[in-house]
Amino acid sequence: MADALRVGIAGLGTVGSSVARLLGEKSAELTRQCGRSLVVTAVSARDRTRDRGVDLSGAAWFENPVEMARKGEIDVFVELIGGDEGAPREAVKTALEAGKHVVTANKALLSKHGVSLAEVAEKKGVLLNYEAAVAGGIPVIKTMREALAGNTVNRVFGIMNGTCNYILTRMESEGISFEACLADAQRLGYAEADPTFDIEGNDTAHKLSILTSLAFGCKISAADIYLEGISNITQADIRAASALGYRIKLLGVAQRTESGIEQRVHPTMVPTASVIAQVHGVTNAVAIETDILGELLLSGPGAGGNATASAVIGDIADIAKSRPGFQHGPVFGRPAKELSPYRKAQMRSHAGGYFIRLTVHDRIGVFAAIAKRMADNDISLESIVQHADGALAKDQKTVVLVTAETTEAAVRKAVDGVTKDGHLTDKAQVIRIERAG
Ligand code: HSE
Repeated sequence: MADALRVGIAGLGTVGSSVARLLGEKSAELTRQCGRSLVVTAVSARDRTRDRGVDLSGAAWFENPVEMARKGEIDVFVELIGGDEGAPREAVKTALEAGKHVVTANKALLSKHGVSLAEVAEKKGVLLNYEAAVAGGIPVIKTMREALAGNTVNRVFGIMNGTCNYILTRMESEGISFEACLADAQRLGYAEADPTFDIEGNDTAHKLSILTSLAFGCKISAADIYLEGISNITQADIRAASALGYRIKLLGVAQRTESGIEQRVHPTMVPTASVIAQVHGVTNAVAIETDILGELLLSGPGAGGNATASAVIGDIADIAKSRPGFQHGPVFGRPAKELSPYRKAQMRSHAGGYFIRLTVHDRIGVFAAIAKRMADNDISLESIVQHADGALAKDQKTVVLVTAETTEAAVRKAVDGVTKDGHLTDKAQVIRIERAG
């Protein structure tokens, strides 16, 4: 049997502890599958005394992950610290430069420095595996990088943040407040260390930027993503969406358009009957539309210790099965140096349907004024409904519009016009509608 694969784990939080524990519990099965054993020989974390439910006494302890990357007697450096700068970045770079394979779940790091780190890995002939960085336990990286070879991707979209989907699901099904749902997501270990990364869409944007590179063969460009989180979604939106046959999801969408690549993360109305609308709780789902295959939808556990650890262990096992001299595939599906520059489509040219919820003064002519602003901007309406809402003052009404396909620029102009008309008592709520099967 080949020598054991020596694994060093940096970061022993929810995911790191699960990886260490599962490598022990599944040791016999992994050895059978890989033809060699996987042994944790080094770990790095700040607090040595904390009980993590796993015996790590046989592993060398490093306070500094960069030291572990440099001096640890390891073949694979597993980075589960998180964060896009400082120690995790330095440690991953050091490990790759030292000829060590790297496995990481760090979407923020890859989103910012993935291409330059891939260049180092490819130059050194080592693997940089990151299945756990996108959509938790769903094998979407392997699927896009390997199984879809030859396919031209036109659109990739999905629910990629378990915390947001958990919050939206419970807000809808149980009528619970946003804050209470978020507190539960934190308690269950789904949320990021700073949960604003979840709810403001940054985490989804990090993941989307990685999928965009794989989908379109371009450099990663998270800074070009249009971003809106879910913190201003209210029960009124959820109820109005439901009445119209829609459900609200935080989607990340990347699509090829005539003017470039559109990348956007925002709360989205999807038809209640669509498959993606049935994805509930912490579950993630990624839809990939290609010329050869058509639409593929992958769904599964998107956050939490075991889900993420499953993907990390799959990546470590791939390294264990690889052999020296074997030509590894490029990190982002094509050599990092050959990734094309990112060509950004402007958000104002985004085409699609829109849900617009307005809270208005209940007076004659308001309805007509709103309709005129829409017509002036060439917006055709699928529906316009006015209703009283128990939560509103007596002299206020809710008007909900659903547009036919139009552009972002037209909707922004129309809503600005309605706002200037002085009929609104609150800020207009605009939610994009996404085509989904
Ligand atoms: N905070 C993330 C989520 C964890 O809620 O999906 C997985 O990246």
